[in-house]
Formats: sequence, C-alpha cells, structure tokens
Amino acid sequence: MNKIGVMTSGGDSPGMNAAIRAVVRTAIFNKMEVFGIRRGYQGMIEGDIFKMETTDVSNIIQRGGTILKTARSKEFMTLEGRAKAYAQLMQNGIEGLVLIGGDGTFRGANVFFEQYPIPAVGLPGTIDKDLAGTDFTIGFDTAVNTAVEAIDKIRDTADAHNRMFVVEVMGRDAGYIALNSGIACGAEDILIPELRTDIHLVIQKIKEDVRRKKNVHLLVVAEGDDFGGAEDVKKALLQDLPEADVRVCILGHIQRGGAPSFADRVLASRLGFAAVNALRAGKHQVMVGQINNEMVLTPFAEVVKQKAIIPADLQAMTYVLST
Ligand code: F6P
Repeated sequence: MNKIGVMTSGGDSPGMNAAIRAVVRTAIFNKMEVFGIRRGYQGMIEGDIFKMETTDVSNIIQRGGTILKTARSKEFMTLEGRAKAYAQLMQNGIEGLVLIGGDGTFRGANVFFEQYPIPAVGLPGTIDKDLAGTDFTIGFDTAVNTAVEAIDKIRDTADAHNRMFVVEVMGRDAGYIALNSGIACGAEDILIPELRTDIHLVIQKIKEDVRRKKNVHLLVVAEGDDFGGAEDVKKALLQDLPEADVRVCILGHIQRGGAPSFADRVLASRLGFAAVNALRAGKHQVMVGQINNEMVLTPFAEVVKQKAIIPADLQAMTYVLST
C-alpha cells in the first residue's frame, strides 16, 4: 500500500490534530504518500483532497479542533453520495484510509465498506467516549477537564448564594462526561442516559439534604439524560420546591475546544502510529483502541454495536460520596 487518505469526521475533539500528525509522519516515515481529506465524508464526496507533507503537521500537536476540518455529511447517507466518495478516492489513487471520529463515523464506515471494500483503520476521536474497543477516546480527558474547571467555578458562586445549580454537560447518548466531571466536582447528583432517572428520588434527596442544612446542590446532567436536559430538571425541581433558588448552566461547545491534555496528545499519537502500522500489516476495517495500556484492534461493527455499561461500584460510590 503506497497511498493512504486521512480524515476527521463528526464532532471534533481535542487531540485530533495530534492524531493527524502521527498518521502523516508514520506514513511518510514508511515511504507512503498521505492525502488529507477535508471535512470528513463530505469532503470525500466533493474531492476536497490534498497531498500532505511532514511540515503540514508541524506545530499542531497542542491545538484543539482539526486542521482537516470536519462535518456531519447527510449526502454520505445516500447511495449516490457514497458512490461519488468512492469515485473520488479512486481518482486520487487512494488505496487505504485512516478515519478519525466517533460513533457516526464508524456507522458510516460500516455501510461504505460493505459496498466498497477499501482497506481502512479507524481511530476513536470523540469527547463522548461512547465507543467499545477502547478504554479512552481522543478528546474525552480534555473535555472532562474543561467541564471540571467550569463546574468548580460554578460551585464557588453556588456556595456564596446557597443556590442550587443544574449543570448540563455534553453527551447525547453517553453519560461519561457527566459521570466523571460529577464525581470529580463532588456533585450532589449525576443524571446520565445509561441509568433511568427517577426525578422524585432526586428531589427527595435534596429535601433530606435541606433538612440536614446542606444548602448547596450541584446537579450534573448529561444532555441526553432520559428525563431531559438541565432546563427540564429545573422545571421539575421548582414544581416540588417552589421556593428553591435554582440556576441552570449549559456548558455546551466549550467542552469540545481547547488545547488537548497531555493524556489526549499521547493517546492520539500512539493510536495514529498504530493505525498506519495496522494498515501496513494488512489489518483492515478495524478501530485501534487502547485497552489496559495496550493497542487493540476491534472490527468497526463491534465498535458501534456494544453500549458501555456504567460499573455498579461507581454508581454506589457516587451515591455514598454525595450524601
Ligand atoms: O461529538 C459529540 C458531541 O459533542 C455530543 O456530545 C453532542 O451531543 C454533539 O456532539 C453536538 O453536535 P453538534 O456540534 O453537531 O451540535
């Protein structure tokens, strides 16, 4: 294999640039040509493809976002879109692909490669950490640190006013950011999509805390919680506790930006290096993940099929430590 393409797709995540750098430099070191595909599958369809050199990835390891840009492509969901994408790859002589993205990227890959079996290796790039086959995803650590920094600040003002705060963090289908930032910030409750939210229990706990003169309540809710987002939780709280002084803070896209943490830079570098070596070794249609500090390959289909389970000990610990 002499010519490979690399792209980032779906929601960007801090550390994607470090991954691109590792892919480009490992490929060129091994005498391969590398082509950057801009804006994910959409750029593939439109032929937004350019040859990359080692200098194109200088001075990017510390930057958030992605120099290759990203997109969520509706056109790629159509047969015509995928046919155009394949034609562009053929026209550019691309023989293998490195895909950096999350759930949507690997779902797209599965459908595409069923029709067009081009060798491809994926890298888990998403702040949500909602993929099987890896302990961590590129960007998760940075996003949680960003959330923790913000929630700590919110706690200062909540404490000053004896206020209740409902903080909404990202995670459309996954509660990892909520769970981890909530534990790290000592949240009074954490609401995540993986566990059914019983709002009556949440309110009962707050009432007990108020009786014990615990006046500050910080609830962290994942945007995809089954009960709803922070505004829905606030509404429910006020129905039962009309006197409560409740504020909502939605952290939103600040969680996706910023300089990647050292952990994300190292993870992205290791995964990028391993991805090119996997392609060279003839390992295809797999995602490279890190499990127990080892590089592990998992077929695309399994990566998106399995949903993560929140360990019971973490649930129990969160309850005890927040009382
Ligand atoms: O990339 C994952 C994610 O940040 C989710 O947590 C969030 O629901 C979604 O992307 C937001 O996507 P967009 O930026 O397209 O609104």
